Amino acid sequence: VSDDLAPPRGDMDPEVFRREGHRIVDWLADYFAAPERFPVLSRAEPGDLVRALPAHAPESGESFDAIFEDFKDKIVPGITHWNHPAFFAYFSITGSGPGVLAEMLSAGLNVQAMLWRTSPAATELEQVALGWLRQLMRLPDAFEGVIYDTASISVLHALAAAREAAIPDVRTRGLASRGLPRVRVYLSAHTHSSADKSAILLGLGQEAITHIACDGHHAMRVELLRQAIAADRRDGVMPLAVIATVGTTSSTAIDPVAAIADVCEVERVWLHVDAAYAGVMAMVPEWQHHFRGMERADTVVVNPHKWLFTPFDCSVLYCRRMDVLRQAFSLVAEYLRTSEAAPVNNLMDTGIQLGRKFRALKLWAVLRYFGADGIRARLQEHVALARAFASWVDAADGWERLAPVPFSVVCFRHHPDGLDDEAALERHNAAIMDAVNRSGEAFLSHTKLDGKLVLRLAIGNLRTEERHVRRAWDLLTNAAAARQIV
Ligand SMILES: Cc1ncc(COP(=O)(O)O)c(C=O)c1O
Repeated sequence: VSDDLAPPRGDMDPEVFRREGHRIVDWLADYFAAPERFPVLSRAEPGDLVRALPAHAPESGESFDAIFEDFKDKIVPGITHWNHPAFFAYFSITGSGPGVLAEMLSAGLNVQAMLWRTSPAATELEQVALGWLRQLMRLPDAFEGVIYDTASISVLHALAAAREAAIPDVRTRGLASRGLPRVRVYLSAHTHSSADKSAILLGLGQEAITHIACDGHHAMRVELLRQAIAADRRDGVMPLAVIATVGTTSSTAIDPVAAIADVCEVERVWLHVDAAYAGVMAMVPEWQHHFRGMERADTVVVNPHKWLFTPFDCSVLYCRRMDVLRQAFSLVAEYLRTSEAAPVNNLMDTGIQLGRKFRALKLWAVLRYFGADGIRARLQEHVALARAFASWVDAADGWERLAPVPFSVVCFRHHPDGLDDEAALERHNAAIMDAVNRSGEAFLSHTKLDGKLVLRLAIGNLRTEERHVRRAWDLLTNAAAARQIV
């Protein structure tokens, strides 16, 4: 096949697809072998790509070769490399080999798994893979799982289910109807902002959210939760749900889930546990105590796309009352009505979207390829790297750590003698971070803890070795030293 221009009708010639597919797999294999050849944080300036591409779609088709050349020359420079072993910002992730290959198969099949019959295997593989993950995380059989794109969407569904359980009338009458109670959702000061967005979208409103203050380790103070619920009950406000987090976004803090579950049980309030990042550590026996109480939640979210080596996107919501979730969302139009020989699960009934990607394939491939032991070993290695970094921070003059390291994230800052003004420290640390990120050799992000700007180093990429973490530390200490000289 010499000419890969689009034929006058139909799709790309399968032989062109074969040839170009091999080229792309070769490119990806080279990329995975050495992502360090690219700067981890893109050096693109705003508008670079828009200026580099034509303002109008081509009238005539172009060769895939031309498309691929533009990908390499114009798109890749605007990529921040999440695959880079020194990507330490936000939560570091991995689109692992088996996950990427399975994602290619899923893209090729182009399955839309709204109904069991629109691909029985997609529905049933989701059941199998989520059953495996549930057992590995030691969640009881009562939990049924469903895959969404992100934890933001998972918490939206969790809160919708909580609302359905507490005030089922809302489904037909809407929240604004007269006679319905005011409701409240309790979060910690460190709960991910997606919960607040869900309250906005569900029509509860931001005023329906109470942020409970945290202790010195950034974990929710349960006695304050109890007090807030009691005060609301006195005022005629209905407590709807509590969100407890294991592994908060800023510092990976751990809310006291068991104590919060006690409160929720007494108060009969929906408990959602956000374990989007850290949940996979429930697979590791030595870490299981951090998750005590999670098994009593109504819903639990864990994101395989965060720390389970599954290409973005893949978020799992486990629900012990899936009937309530279905009650909230099931609405079967005539054109979607089916009858099968036996009862089946139609994924469209478990959420707002009708169409669904076949995401279970990549999760199943990852679980099989690495195996539970292989996954545990890799997670523990990441924790060990984070602890090594934390020990360097602890041992260094002028550096301080600002949170415990229960998982693979270290919060720290440079705090030289004599520099105690918070605003000056903030500028100083932001400048250090910028210098490191500009190097292209490492990428860190920041947060605020107790009003202090804190640098975060997050480990989660399968290619990260101690030398990458060591290099990041050298870059940080060099940047700090250079600033002191000025
Ligand atoms: C604890 C926690 N929950 C939820 C989210 C939202 O995740 P997603 O990007 O999948 O919506 C994040 C994102 O970092 C998170 O850290």
